Amino acid sequence: MHAILLPRTGGPDVLEWREVETPRAAPGEVVVAVAAAALNYSDLLQRRGTYSLGIPLPLILGIECSGTIVELGDGVEGWQVGERVCALVAGGAYAEQVAVPAAQLLSLPANVDPIAAAGLPEAACTVWSNLLDIARLRPGETVLVHGGAGGIGSFAIQTARAMGCRVFATAGGEAKLSRCSAFGADRAISYRDEDFVAVVRAETGGRGVDVILDNMGAPYLSRNISALAHDGRITMIGLQGGRSAEVNLGQMMGLRASLFTTSLRDRPLAEKARIVAGVRRDLWPLLENGRIAPVIDRTVPLREARAAHAYMEGGGHVGKILLTA
Ligand SMILES: NC(=O)c1ccc[n+]([C@@H]2O[C@H](COP(=O)([O-])OP(=O)(O)OC[C@H]3O[C@@H](n4cnc5c(N)ncnc54)[C@H](OP(=O)(O)O)[C@@H]3O)[C@@H](O)[C@H]2O)c1
Repeated sequence: MHAILLPRTGGPDVLEWREVETPRAAPGEVVVAVAAAALNYSDLLQRRGTYSLGIPLPLILGIECSGTIVELGDGVEGWQVGERVCALVAGGAYAEQVAVPAAQLLSLPANVDPIAAAGLPEAACTVWSNLLDIARLRPGETVLVHGGAGGIGSFAIQTARAMGCRVFATAGGEAKLSRCSAFGADRAISYRDEDFVAVVRAETGGRGVDVILDNMGAPYLSRNISALAHDGRITMIGLQGGRSAEVNLGQMMGLRASLFTTSLRDRPLAEKARIVAGVRRDLWPLLENGRIAPVIDRTVPLREARAAHAYMEGGGHVGKILLTA
């Protein structure tokens, strides 16, 4: 089969379209013939060589896909060859076929395009595990989503809105701010021209927000704490702005605030299976009744992954960029 190989770290040009060995299903796995894979921010970090989990090269990028099951490994129950699925993958999805633990498969939600479904597993699992599981977001609470126009952010806004929460979202330009509003943000905040702390404090009568989903890390930490309500929770999923910061623990204690840092990819299989089951139970119905929809910026042929990476690096996208096999 063919795949996009990352033989060494560097710019988009290091990605190579190559013939590689076709994967086989180990016990508990299936092989999926990939219809589409989605790009994620961590793919860019891995390609640049700045990803926090050191994964040896060469490797095939890609942590989510949609497609059709073509092989079942020993012990796999409840799935059939020929079934259309989407999946959370621990790497290898920029390929014509990929082996996936059966516990990380999701059936396609009714009414969702099979190609667009490639952009669902990572966002749905990240949003479920952070907003619903870790932060225990409840209907009626107020949430601030940073990077609301991104792949994760656009899904987070829709989910929080569908849960009956009041949603604030940050984004970096007029077009992206209006997309955040269309996804369901009650107030989209320009991270370039506005102070998000001042905006959420003014809009909540000084109370602050209950939950913050943060992708920026260090430069936003102190401001995020200042934007929190009592008993507020910050779930930090990205360190795009930096890794090292000072925290005013007194301010946090005064608010009874919680700070969580999480990653999805290196969790044990049983933990991922629990998250996937939570997504299927709590979020799939919202996709099936149209309360949440996948947000696809564009689809690019798999062999043009270099162009897709260069485009994502430019930051002009809204939602997910897909690679079609
Ligand atoms: N921990 C986990 O398990 C986990 C899982 C998945 C993703 N993530 C993390 O989640 C983040 C988003 O991933 P993605 O795949 O959705 O990438 P993405 O689509 O490229 O989104 C990145 C977002 O960052 C935003 N951004 C840039 N500068 C910002 C600033 N100063 N303030 C607020 N937002 C800013 C961008 O906003 P504009 O486009 O408006 O400029 C964009 O929406 C990444 O940090 C990724 O590593 C973590």
